[in-house]
Amino acid sequence: MITLSGITKVYKNGPLEVEALSHIDLQIERGEFVAIMGSSGSGKSTLMNIIGCLDVPTSGSYLLDGEEVHTLNEDDLARVRNRKIGFVFQSFNLLGRQTVLQNVTLPMMYAGTSREKRQERALGLLDKVGLKDRVKHRPNELSGGQKQRVAIARALTMEAPILLADEPTGNLDTKSSQDIMALFKEIHREGTTIVLVTHEPEIAEHADRVLLFGDGKLLKDTRKGSVRL
Ligand SMILES: Nc1ncnc2c1ncn2[C@@H]1O[C@H](COP(=O)(O)OP(=O)(O)O)[C@@H](O)[C@H]1O
Ligand SMILES: [Mg+2]
Repeated sequence: MITLSGITKVYKNGPLEVEALSHIDLQIERGEFVAIMGSSGSGKSTLMNIIGCLDVPTSGSYLLDGEEVHTLNEDDLARVRNRKIGFVFQSFNLLGRQTVLQNVTLPMMYAGTSREKRQERALGLLDKVGLKDRVKHRPNELSGGQKQRVAIARALTMEAPILLADEPTGNLDTKSSQDIMALFKEIHREGTTIVLVTHEPEIAEHADRVLLFGDGKLLKDTRKGSVRL
């Protein structure tokens, strides 16, 4: 599903160059649940942005579902992103002036889905994440855990095969974090490929595979059931 070969990302700010990712080779199969760990600045978000087609690598190749993403232009990248990737962020990234329902229908507006279908699908997803009785609320009237549920419902609207989550529980208390992880597991069981960044071992434990990053390099790739050293 995801094949990265020799992916390198260099950020240039004037004379300053930072190699955020260095020659990453990585394959993620359809249906995997992968956690990405590593200290701050190790390149986790850079990797997520590349996998999610929000950014392009400086060199290397990226095959997403058989498509050579590294050769695509902005428009094609946006198209691939909309069809294949759902995103969840640490800071929820909800629109504060829009209702919960409007936030969830937004990706479908961009995709040109009919009003009726948008409404039906959004209400179904909000029911799934346990927010049926909050559809008319605005984000600032919700708890952190509830905001993240809205973001997850929004990420599921396009039925994308891949869900990317960058520190989704980073702003949540322990109870809300566990609830959110239970939701991710349910989504995974239903067939979605999940890649999730976290620095909390209790969160990473929910995944079937853990990738450890350090200084822009993939240091360790551990699968559940295999011997831990
Ligand atoms: N837009 C940017 N411009 C310059 N440097 C960046 C940019 N984004 C990230 N970096 C640098 O790249 C490295 C990796 O960052 P990042 O992927 O955000 O790490 P992580 O998510 O693991 O904390 C860091 O050294 C960071 O400072
Ligand atoms: Mg990060």
